[in-house]
Amino acid sequence: MRKNYLATAALAAGSVLASQAVANAAELNLICSADVVICELLVETFEAQHDIDVSMVRLSSGEAYAKVRAEARNPKTDIWWGGTGDPHLQAAADGLTMSYKSPMLDELLPWAVKQAESADYKTVGVYSGALGWGYNKEVLAGKGIEPPKCWADLLNPALKGEIQVANPNSSGTAYTALATLVQLMGEDEAFEFLKKMNDNVSQYTKSGSAPVKAAARGETGIGIVFMHDAVSQAVEGFPVGVVAPCEGTGYEIGSMSIVERARNVEEAKTWYDWVLKPDVQSLLKEAKSFQIPSNASAEVPEEAPSLDEVKLIDYDFTTYGSSEKRKALLERWDREVGAIAN
Ligand code: F6P
Repeated sequence: MRKNYLATAALAAGSVLASQAVANAAELNLICSADVVICELLVETFEAQHDIDVSMVRLSSGEAYAKVRAEARNPKTDIWWGGTGDPHLQAAADGLTMSYKSPMLDELLPWAVKQAESADYKTVGVYSGALGWGYNKEVLAGKGIEPPKCWADLLNPALKGEIQVANPNSSGTAYTALATLVQLMGEDEAFEFLKKMNDNVSQYTKSGSAPVKAAARGETGIGIVFMHDAVSQAVEGFPVGVVAPCEGTGYEIGSMSIVERARNVEEAKTWYDWVLKPDVQSLLKEAKSFQIPSNASAEVPEEAPSLDEVKLIDYDFTTYGSSEKRKALLERWDREVGAIAN
């Protein structure tokens, strides 16, 4: 009896310890706003190297911002990795993310550090890449259409129904396109351009890279995307040509931010410092993600479009990442373009 009692007590104590161990297991809640392949590879590698369980959700940049904002009073997310810098800057300005000076900052390229400094270290640059488009060589050749080289060429009536681009509310890529056109042409002219281009647009997708994935499969002629996303499709063997628009183009500083009042703040810092290491950033290439990594010693994939060969505008991240500007441009897009979308 006593023996039984002891055995039962030992079992009970064991299960209490086990359940405490489960309760104490370190965890990290991550939003990942880059391509799902690199998101999964990072999580898998991080978990293999740390005793921390990562729960990851993949969301486009604008959706991620909306989630962090919606959770402000009771954050469920600890860290947000990737996605265009503008909504990260907006989150910083809104007080939704936390100031953190990583010991890794010294290893980063100037544009990544500048991104951190401009937001009181509430965000930091993790990669960069220029905007352009990808086109399906066979689809355009089959229709006898010259591949567009300039933004102005996208208004060619022969391209009716042949263009896809994302919705700038959900997608950071599409917001970068909107802000780029405004900086290139002026706001009113940019909206005139977008309304005309709407005649050629078959679909405004949720995710930024979806248009070039559709172009790769011949479902559309052109996808307006970051050039590195078009390169990924070409590297996969699809007949995709990559264009840097002749008038000039914008670019992203893909960013990372820790959520203000994150529950797992130490784990978030562990991820933050780890993911800025050169060998970790070199995983981008392995996942066929061809952005330029922010650590000066990370391997730059030879496929990554070189920013030196693209006519870049002096993209004003402070203005276009501000809450007022982003909100105002998105509202105008909804009124003038979203409202007439096919
Ligand atoms: O697919 C990768 C990528 O283009 C990143 O470089 C970028 O930060 C992100 O996707 C933007 O995605 P979305 O436009 O869906 O917010």
